[in-house]
Amino acid sequence: MGYKTIDVKPVSGALGAEIEGVDLSKELSNETFDDIHQAFLDHVVIFFRDQHIGHEQHKAFGRRFGSLNIHPYVKGMDGHREIMQIVKEPEDRINFGGGWHSDMSFLEEPALGSILYAKEVPPYGGDTLWANQYLAYETLSDGMKKMLEGLKAIHTAKGEYSERGASAQRRKSMNVTVAGDDTPSFEHPVLRTHPETGRKALYVNPAFTEKFVGMTKRESRPLLDFLFEHCTQEQFTCRFRWTKSAIAFWDNRAAQHFALNDYHGHRRHMERVTVNGDRPF
Ligand code: SIN
Repeated sequence: MGYKTIDVKPVSGALGAEIEGVDLSKELSNETFDDIHQAFLDHVVIFFRDQHIGHEQHKAFGRRFGSLNIHPYVKGMDGHREIMQIVKEPEDRINFGGGWHSDMSFLEEPALGSILYAKEVPPYGGDTLWANQYLAYETLSDGMKKMLEGLKAIHTAKGEYSERGASAQRRKSMNVTVAGDDTPSFEHPVLRTHPETGRKALYVNPAFTEKFVGMTKRESRPLLDFLFEHCTQEQFTCRFRWTKSAIAFWDNRAAQHFALNDYHGHRRHMERVTVNGDRPF
């Protein structure tokens, strides 16, 4: 791909690229914005190092891509409700996002993308992994693709944000509200067509996908387990070593991600702006 205003350096064969030559604290010209947008679509997750942005600039960058989400279970920052602080204190045992997932797939209109900014990073560990869900789809057999075509799955926050769910365990450090019995569920296609690229991606994730529409949980489990294992294989992934002031911006319509929890005794502080998306088709 030819980019006019930025340098784009892929970080793995599957997905991910570091972007150089841009300062996100400054207002982006339309030309630079178009290049960044194209790199985001081409590489699914893009990274920027050494960005010194304030909360308003973080939100403004997100707003170039769409409206911003206010998380239903994690309270945003005072004065900046659209910014979620993802903090793990030295004494915390459980981290936020420590399982494969696509952000907000439990909503009727799940997130388009997430923009994560590193405020404080541990001396080692705390990397994030992403897995390319276009590749997960494309590497399925024709028979499996045919079987999944037209199938829908039910996504809900009930498990993850319920009293015993991993996200709800983060109540102390992160101001998480526990999801009640009235937590809604939404149906999304198992094979999702990306609204901008037109490519198909697998769209089920272990954190929020409960079962297939028209099937019981028990009936759904074997096929879901296969898909969860299939879609996060090593060859579909990239891994980012965070440095302070780095930013990752990923496409939740075509990627899942996983925050590693291997830095006990150290603090990690990230801030996330989440861009709203459309209803999957
Ligand atoms: C998340 O958005 O799931 C958190 C990712 C991370 O903290 O690396």
